[in-house]
Amino acid sequence: MSPFRITRTLPEDATDAALRADVRHGLTGTPKTLPPKWFYDAHGSELFERITELPEYYPTRAEREILVDRAGEIAAAARARTLVELGSGSSEKTRYLIDALTGLDTYVPVDVSESALTQAGQALIAERPGLDVHALIADFTAVLALPDTPGPRLVAFLGGTIGNLLPDERREFLASVRALLAPGDALLLGTDLVKDERVLVRAYDDAAGVTAAFDKNVLTVVNRELGADFDPDAFEHVALWDAGNEWIEMRLRSLTAQTVKIPALDLAVDFEDGEELRTEVSAKFREEGVRTELAAAGMELSHWWTDGAGRFALSLSTAR
Ligand SMILES: C[S@@+](CC[C@H](N)C(=O)[O-])C[C@H]1O[C@@H](n2cnc3c(N)ncnc32)[C@H](O)[C@@H]1O
Repeated sequence: MSPFRITRTLPEDATDAALRADVRHGLTGTPKTLPPKWFYDAHGSELFERITELPEYYPTRAEREILVDRAGEIAAAARARTLVELGSGSSEKTRYLIDALTGLDTYVPVDVSESALTQAGQALIAERPGLDVHALIADFTAVLALPDTPGPRLVAFLGGTIGNLLPDERREFLASVRALLAPGDALLLGTDLVKDERVLVRAYDDAAGVTAAFDKNVLTVVNRELGADFDPDAFEHVALWDAGNEWIEMRLRSLTAQTVKIPALDLAVDFEDGEELRTEVSAKFREEGVRTELAAAGMELSHWWTDGAGRFALSLSTAR
């Protein structure tokens, strides 16, 4: 069997320090916010996988449709020997790319979720003998130290996860992705597209309540890691479309006036009745906006593919 390695690029206490800093900053600010990366402990990663199978959650199916149709074209344009995937999760859709990239030596999945990386990596080495899988437990918003692997490199960022970054964070992130690209390397970016508000809101507020459970999971993570006493039942999941910013917001609305204690931070956080905590934005894009943001980061979009219904896009770009 081919090798599977998993490397933690940040020590666990750095992750702990980052969580503490984010919780303190986010819960003492106005409005209250938490960054979405803290959804993804093992249970959060499982819940996300269930979301991808929901009838309302079209992005995974739409992106898979593009990959099925276009993996050959993507592979012919990229000719990658190393595939780096940011926020790889289950790597489920990535298999279409891996199969199409005939000269591929190494797959480098990068994620904050150790459980997702381990499950995906172990499955992949069993399924794809000869593929070297070198997983990195890392935050893709930090500077990435990638392993020294053969080029050309294709950096994939799928799932529309780029939409979870705020505009300033996106600018910084794209500049750091650009810095990873040598001549001949490429970026494959998945972006969810602006569409009917009802379709968008349903995708983030499903009838079975799986997205609500995913949203509340961040409270469970803060309870477990920082000894907090959030009662998830005292909050309700809210998804709304912000037309000005063209993004979906997920929020947790306090169902009562309450005080939450976070002993590890020596902090007590007051929520008013109805006060909302923003847990995620998910920006939706248009072709011109994606092209402009990539250009501002020093990349040139060469291909733009959408699914048949025009819901989701994959773009391929190179460094200018
Ligand atoms: C929306 S899911 C997408 C998963 C997969 N790429 C897909 O298309 O189905 C986001 C993934 O990014 C990971 N993630 C979120 N924030 C991250 C960060 N700052 N650094 C690294 N991984 C992150 C999560 O653990 C999760 O696996």
